[in-house]
Amino acid sequence: MAAAAKSSSAKSKSAKPRKATRRTGTRDPLAIRLLKQDHREVEKMFDEYEQLESDSEKQALFDKIALALKVHTRIEEEILYPESRGEVEDDLIDEAYVEHDGAKKLIAEIEAMKPGQEFYDAKVKVLGEYIKHHVKEEEQPGGFFAQAKKGDEDLEAMGERLKARKEELMTQMAGKAAH
Ligand SMILES: [Fe+2]
Ligand SMILES: [Fe+2]
Repeated sequence: MAAAAKSSSAKSKSAKPRKATRRTGTRDPLAIRLLKQDHREVEKMFDEYEQLESDSEKQALFDKIALALKVHTRIEEEILYPESRGEVEDDLIDEAYVEHDGAKKLIAEIEAMKPGQEFYDAKVKVLGEYIKHHVKEEEQPGGFFAQAKKGDEDLEAMGERLKARKEELMTQMAGKAAH
């Protein structure tokens, strides 16, 4: 990771707490690590989708993408977003909710279709770009996660709760999806 070079200037770290610790990404608390991991996984799936030819493979992979996104947005909305009020700018939190809603609508549209239908691939592609944008807003310097990390929330403990809730939802929603 390119962040390693930046963090080598750790001189000022031990002496006095400097105001703006640069976001290195190397010491993220558990909550942030887990959510970033989800982001990487779903980005990978969108990339994989582009390589697929057969409708059945596309359907299977999209089902996985949809499940991952539903669970991820749920845990953020149940835990991270409400608990970040007061730590993260309100505008940023509000926009994040709105972006989730936009993604959910697009997911529902795609779920109502079959691969091979007109605009199916285009919708998946646009969803991927939309998610990429949203993930950037969360991860970029000064963004949602960066602001949350500067706050007082215990993001290690929150990570444990995110993890437990994710497992619960995965089982619940994966069961529902298998019709
Ligand atoms: Fe999000
Ligand atoms: Fe996220």
